[in-house]
Amino acid sequence: MTGALPPSPLPLPLLAVESLDAWYGGARILSGVTIQVGAGEVVALLGRNGAGKTTTLRAVFGLGPRRRGQIRFLDHPLIPESPHRIARYGLGYVPEDRRLFGELTVLENLEMGRQPPRPGRPPWTPERLFALFPNLGASRRSEAGRLSGGEQQMLALARALMGNPLVLMLDEPSEGLAPRLIQTVGETLQGLRSEGVGILLAEQSLTLAGAVADRAYIMEKGEIRHHAPMTALLADPTTRQSWLAV
Ligand SMILES: Nc1ncnc2c1ncn2[C@@H]1O[C@H](COP(=O)(O)OP(=O)(O)OP(=O)(O)O)[C@@H](O)[C@H]1O
Ligand SMILES: [Mg+2]
Repeated sequence: MTGALPPSPLPLPLLAVESLDAWYGGARILSGVTIQVGAGEVVALLGRNGAGKTTTLRAVFGLGPRRRGQIRFLDHPLIPESPHRIARYGLGYVPEDRRLFGELTVLENLEMGRQPPRPGRPPWTPERLFALFPNLGASRRSEAGRLSGGEQQMLALARALMGNPLVLMLDEPSEGLAPRLIQTVGETLQGLRSEGVGILLAEQSLTLAGAVADRAYIMEKGEIRHHAPMTALLADPTTRQSWLAV
């Protein structure tokens, strides 16, 4: 027989962004951004056009803006750190502009995303991804540049999954997708959450985020203006109208 378990400590977030400031050249874009993402959590980063969502994700991933503040991923401080190392640690990123290699095939693009497996989790393979996204499987030997816009978005997500991310950041993955594909993305994110992956989902609208996110941060002019459980935000039209495009 075992004795009583000691009280468990509060779970540490997988990704903790604290008091993050960022600049493009002399222009200050972010001020004091603080965001946490825990294991098995879908966290939305919402805000209108130009609010600073993409800048936040790029700053976390070490892509460009000059940064000040703290960013911790697992035990790793991410300032200063290169995108290559950050991806190796297990932080995945699906950029707004997809960044596919248009002249490489679907399979070759997937290989570009490959990172080590993570202990205790089944690694992503092209075959497992093709079961999830059958259109990609059917086009596996086609050049990525020849896929439809929706298929390219699925490929960008699939390539990020090849990195076996522990936390996945997605920048407006629902933009321009047909409702059926938005549903596929939503189901994929829910599947990842059930495996304990943490998800940071930047979106302008609540179409996808309202369906899958547990919590939401709302940004405006480079600052976090509001933080609430998604259920509270969905029940609060005043806040939505103040800060969002809906
Ligand atoms: N490379 C850059 N150089 C200078 N300013 C930039 C750069 N990228 C973005 N900005 C500015 O930073 C601010 C935040 O932009 P950002 O792209 O982060 O917003 P966003 O919330 O992602 O918007 P959207 O929903 O339209 O994608 C905007 O004022 C934008 O003009
Ligand atoms: Mg953006």
